Amino acid sequence: MSIHSPVDQNPTAPLPASSRSATPAAGVVPEFAPPPADRPRKRYAVAGTGHRAGMYVSALTGDHADVGHIVAWLDPNPGRIDWYDAQVRDAGASDPRPPALPRYTPDELERMVAEQKVDVVIVTSPDHTHAALVERALRAGADVVVEKPLTTDAEGCRRITQAVAETGRDVVMTFNYRYAPRNSTLREVIASGRIGTVTGVHFEWALDTVHGADYFRRWHREKENSGGLLVHKSSHHFDLVNWWLDDVPRRVFASGGLRFYGDVNARERGVGERPERGTDAPGDPFSLDLRSDPRLEGLYLDAEHHDGYRRDLDPFAPGITIEDNMAVLVDYRGGALLTYSLNAHSPWEGYRVTVNGTAGRAELEVVERGFVDLPENGEAVLDPSATPVPAAGEALRPDGERLIVQRHWERAEEVPIPAGIGGHGGGDAILLMDVFRGDLRLAPDPLRRPAGYLDGVRAVAVGIAANEAMRTGQPVPVGELGLGTDL
Ligand SMILES: NC(=O)c1ccc[n+]([C@@H]2O[C@H](COP(=O)([O-])OP(=O)(O)OC[C@H]3O[C@@H](n4cnc5c(N)ncnc54)[C@H](O)[C@@H]3O)[C@@H](O)[C@H]2O)c1
Repeated sequence: MSIHSPVDQNPTAPLPASSRSATPAAGVVPEFAPPPADRPRKRYAVAGTGHRAGMYVSALTGDHADVGHIVAWLDPNPGRIDWYDAQVRDAGASDPRPPALPRYTPDELERMVAEQKVDVVIVTSPDHTHAALVERALRAGADVVVEKPLTTDAEGCRRITQAVAETGRDVVMTFNYRYAPRNSTLREVIASGRIGTVTGVHFEWALDTVHGADYFRRWHREKENSGGLLVHKSSHHFDLVNWWLDDVPRRVFASGGLRFYGDVNARERGVGERPERGTDAPGDPFSLDLRSDPRLEGLYLDAEHHDGYRRDLDPFAPGITIEDNMAVLVDYRGGALLTYSLNAHSPWEGYRVTVNGTAGRAELEVVERGFVDLPENGEAVLDPSATPVPAAGEALRPDGERLIVQRHWERAEEVPIPAGIGGHGGGDAILLMDVFRGDLRLAPDPLRRPAGYLDGVRAVAVGIAANEAMRTGQPVPVGELGLGTDL
């Protein structure tokens, strides 16, 4: 089995050093039994055929084609369906090419599940559409694999938790960050008791002016679509903390605002006239030219005439309703505290986590892109894996990761982080193995990485409560959000 995920994450996101490893360290990749010869392949439908769908399409036409196959598409935009349908037909390697797969619009989900005998719906649509698609898929008789965030608000949590309770069907949450070896290693350190009982976590995440700016160009820029970055992006981070601590959030306070992107901030800083969109506006480091990447061009520019969606808006154009600077305080049920911050216009990208315990502390530092290298024409490097950052500039902040553990009265020690495989810090490829062949695992995961809907609720609970705290200026007890379930 090939260990590379051919479609990586967002093309504007940095690719961390650990992602580039081709040879995983011993014990990183779990072992699976071969599928029984007489077992039919599972029938998958993909709901939302945009960028993220690519990872699942590649998996089901590549490494995991022996256990599952795509039988239908669901998306309001036929242009994006065309892009993936061609990929699936090309992967068929038969002559003549296999026919196009059946396609449906979102209002036809129930008909799709029935007509195509769909076993599992993979939900890779915009965040605000997840709850309805998940609920309807479950009630139509399919299981679900859903991308983060599970949903954007308490109402979405209620819809999903009720549908799970009433149908008894399965919802897999794809929390790929858990699978990055650096994050798994930190969980092992905490679970081993080396730093004692955890009393607090300090977690800082920095998105740089390429990757961070990208959230302010797309549907994410409107809070009603994404829940803001504390739901859309930080649900990854809050899930990590919940999982590292094996605990659930109890009370949340937050503050935040739009301080850098947006038309008002740009005007106040004296930024002059800007192009409305990045395509065909060369020489601007904050612009994204959809013609610069064949996937971006095929999925978005060529599909624009169907729905008018523009993926390359100027991050300083009016209409942004999400924050770019956020600070959050969380009390955990078990007594630990979390202080968290997210900044979306940093000159470098990465994160720092400090975990304080009764016997010492652990510190994880990750640099995913030490600086944004601007070539002479002024355009940002979109994919640092394709265009590596020159070594000369990396001396002070090289890409990499380091986990230090220091017990009371002892010197600091570096804990080795095993090499991973594929995108997202070495997490995506192993995640896909659990998603598509988890029932064939030879042993349960000692790290408990596979996640379900309840983990999804626990992660978005923090962002949903933080949004409420930012709105009211008051701390928000998670138990009062009305999520439809006890965490
Ligand atoms: N885990 C990760 O690291 C990761 C990375 C990227 C994206 N994601 C998640 O994947 C999801 C999709 O993100 P993306 O970047 O692919 O977005 P995208 O805009 O590229 O694609 C979304 C697709 O959904 C379609 N769509 C819109 N409304 C729909 C509806 N009601 N039903 C079905 N389809 C609909 C759009 O036409 C589009 O094709 C998001 O929830 C995002 O948070 C996760």
